[in-house]
Order: sequence, then structure tokens, then C-alpha cells
Amino acid sequence: MSDFAELHFNGEVYKIPIIEGTENEKALDISKLRGESGLITIDPGYKNTGSTKSAITFLDGEKGILRYRGYPIEQLAEQSSFLEVAYLIIYGELPNEEQLNKWRVDITYHTLIHEDFKVLLEGFPSNSHPMGVLSSLVTSLTAFYPESLDPVRSADEVYMNIIRLIAKLPTIAAWAYKNEIGQPLMYPKNDLDYCGNFLKMMFGTPSEDYEPDPVIIKALNKLLILHAEHEQNCSTSTVRIVGSSHASLYASVSAGINALWGPLHGGANQAVIEMLEAIRADGGDANKYLEKAKDKNDPFRLMGFGHRVYKNFDPRARIIKKAADDVLSKLGVNDPILDIAKKLEAAALSDPYFVDRKLYPNVDFYSGIIYRALGIPTNMFTVMFAMGRLPGWIAQWKEMRENGEPIGRPRQIYTGENERDYVELSKR
Ligand code: SDX
Repeated sequence: MSDFAELHFNGEVYKIPIIEGTENEKALDISKLRGESGLITIDPGYKNTGSTKSAITFLDGEKGILRYRGYPIEQLAEQSSFLEVAYLIIYGELPNEEQLNKWRVDITYHTLIHEDFKVLLEGFPSNSHPMGVLSSLVTSLTAFYPESLDPVRSADEVYMNIIRLIAKLPTIAAWAYKNEIGQPLMYPKNDLDYCGNFLKMMFGTPSEDYEPDPVIIKALNKLLILHAEHEQNCSTSTVRIVGSSHASLYASVSAGINALWGPLHGGANQAVIEMLEAIRADGGDANKYLEKAKDKNDPFRLMGFGHRVYKNFDPRARIIKKAADDVLSKLGVNDPILDIAKKLEAAALSDPYFVDRKLYPNVDFYSGIIYRALGIPTNMFTVMFAMGRLPGWIAQWKEMRENGEPIGRPRQIYTGENERDYVELSKR
């Protein structure tokens, strides 16, 4: 294989180096292109543009492959726990028993958040969307931990910044929910595991004890693992570019939370359920909505379908679809929108519009059905996605800083007015 490509332009020939990754992916290294040829490239949405080299996640969109640090997502979802996967993603290796115990203990003992968070929470109107509360309160961690503003001062500081964020996000999320529904805040309990603690803070009340169902804890672990990392997606790229200005981890992750909120990205899991409920309310006619999705004059999209990278089944969707059947049957939940989702999927997968465009169910298509069965309210679904994606955001931010990557500052092609002189008001 040639290790460079030739660009012929204006009578000149430019050699552009080809780089190759450990999974034989190849890229043109254009880092010197403008200096040598005066040319830049342009690629709206970065559909063909790599922003970095990373050792964290490998995706193969054609084959539906997803691996965290080389481990297949199917094995991790079945055999691991969310905290163990978080350690793997951030530090690159599965922890041994001593490392895992220390990781768990350090996280458990930092789940409490400062009482002044209550003052911040009271400032939000009761109908505030929890994603807005979450990103605001994550940024406010910089106020409670000002040392985090110099995020890479020492390895110990970086570790503590990471521990505090992973430990406190579930507490912040559960408090945002309790604040929204006007229920008393519940405090973390150190004798519960990560998912059990979150569920107790979400659904427990001072007036009655709440014991998280092991089926729900297992399902939540699996969902968080499946959402934990996904290379250079929109929100992770946001975390990287904000972090590239040497902003703190907390400020960078808060930006990622806001990027994830969009309905084309992590907000899709909420949009899927709203779509399925609308279809159900309208008589459950899947084909009617498929036609709407295909109609270019209709803004309706089949939420939970399609993906920038996966042009085959999203491997996470395959696992979540099976888990949805398992969880609903174990919990004895019969949710009619699961049947609508399956009808919609079957119809789309045999429709030329979707087949030709390689539009398959993505991670968001079935996840909301499980969250619903777990009792999690719809407007908390993207918060669940953020909780899952946190290790990925942290790992990518850490890798970018450790690799000393430059501040992100894309170029552009100007298409505005050419130079013209100022015209005084009386002459306009
Ligand atoms: C996530 O990047 C990641 O890794 C993201 C994620 C992660 O883990 O971080 O996997 C999580 O964000 C999953 C995606 C969740 N979003 C949705 O489910 C929203 C619905 N999907 C789409 O909006 C869309 O498929 C995207 C945003 C996911 C991908 O958009 P692209 O890659 O920019 O593709 P496109 O919009 O250019 O679509 C290509 C064609 C177009 O038709 P033509 O112009 O060729 O005729 O497919 C059509 C689109 O109109 N199309 C759809 C469609 N998705 C694409 N038509 C109907 N319904 C859809 N859902």
C-alpha cells in the first residue's frame, strides 16, 4: 500500500501522507496541506474528517462492531459492571481486584454533594428540563472545587476530579428529578452499589423504604455500559474541543451534556418515546408514520433510526432490543408501545427508502422503552444517557490533554461581501 497520495493542483503535485490505525483504517494527513498548497478542505458535519487519533474505542459501522479498549461491547454488556467498564475506558485496562475495590470505595465516598446545591436547585422553576439543570450543576462543581480549574496540576488532582464527577453525577441527576417533582431530596447510601444508590435517590422517599429490584439494577448497569463511550460523536467532540482550550474537565463535560441534549443526538431517546406515544394515540398505524418520515416536505423523522457511522445494525440496539423483552417480561410490564416499535422497525427494514439509505435502529430506538419500564420519566431519559456517557467524555478529555493536542480552531471558506466602504446613515 502506498504511504502517500498525490494531489495535482495548479500544475503542482503535493504528496499527502497516509496514516494507518491498528484496525487498518487509513487517513490522509492534511496537517501541512494549507502551508504547502494554500488549500484547505471543507466537510460540513465532519462526515469524512477525522479530528484525532484515539486508542479508546473502535467502531466499524459497516460490520456493526463496537469495542471499548479492544473488548467487544457484547461481552462487556453481559459480563461486566458499569463502574468496571468506566475504569477500563478511562485507564485503558480492566482493573484487578485491588484496583476495582479502591475505585468503587473512592466513588462511593464521594457521592454526597454540598448542601449549597439545594440553594442552586431552588433557583430552577419546577418545570425545568433536567438536562439544563444537570449541565448547570456540573459547571457549578468548579465553584465547589476551584482547584479543578487547573485540571492537570497533578495526577492525584486529575484522579480526584474524575472520582468526584463520576460519584456526584447520579446524586445531581436524582436531586434534579426530585426538585422537578417537588419531592424531598434523598441522600446517597454508602451500603448500596452505584446503580442501586441512584435508583434509591430517584424513587425512595423518607416516608417509605425503597429496595431497588435486582432486575432493574442489572438492566440499568447494562444500559449505562452500552452508552459509556462512542468515539468522536457530537457530544464527545464538544468535550474535546472545549477541553482543548484548557477549560476544566467539569466545564468541558457540561458542554458535552448540552450537545447531547439535542434530539438528533442523545435527546433522541426522549423523542422516540414521544413519537411512539403519538403513533399510538393516532391509532398505531406504523405505515402512516413511515410515509411521513419518507416525505421530504414533512419535517417528521423516524426518531431512533439512522446513524452517521452505523450503516448496519447498531450493535447496542440489538442488545437493548433483547434486554427490553427480558426486562418487561421479568417486571411483568406489558407496554403497547414496544409492539408499535417492533412493527415500525419491521416495516422500515423492508422499505426501500430505509434500506437504500442504510437506516437501522440506533441505540436510542429501544432504550426509552426499558427506561420507561424501570419507572424513569421520559424527560430523564437523556440524563440517563449522560450518566452512561460520562466515562467516555472523561477518557477522551484525558487522552486529548495527555497527548498535548492543540486548541481546536477549524478554518472556513468565506462567502460574504467583498470589501466595501462605510456609508453614512443619511446616504443609506
Ligand atoms: C446518537 O454519533 C454517534 O455515535 C451518536 C450516538 C452516540 O452513541 O453518541 O450513536 C448516539 O446520537 C444516535 C442517533 C440518535 N438520533 C436519532 O435517532 C435522530 C434520527 N436520526 C437522524 O436524524 C439521522 O439519522 C442522524 C442524525 C442520526 C444521522 O444523520 P446524518 O448522518 O447526517 O444523515 P443524513 O441526515 O444526511 O441522512 C441521510 C439520508 C437523508 O435522506 P436523503 O437526503 O439522502 O434523501 O437519510 C435520511 C435523510 O433524510 N434520514 C432519515 C432519517 N435519518 C436519516 N429519514 C427519516 N428518518 C430518519 N431517522
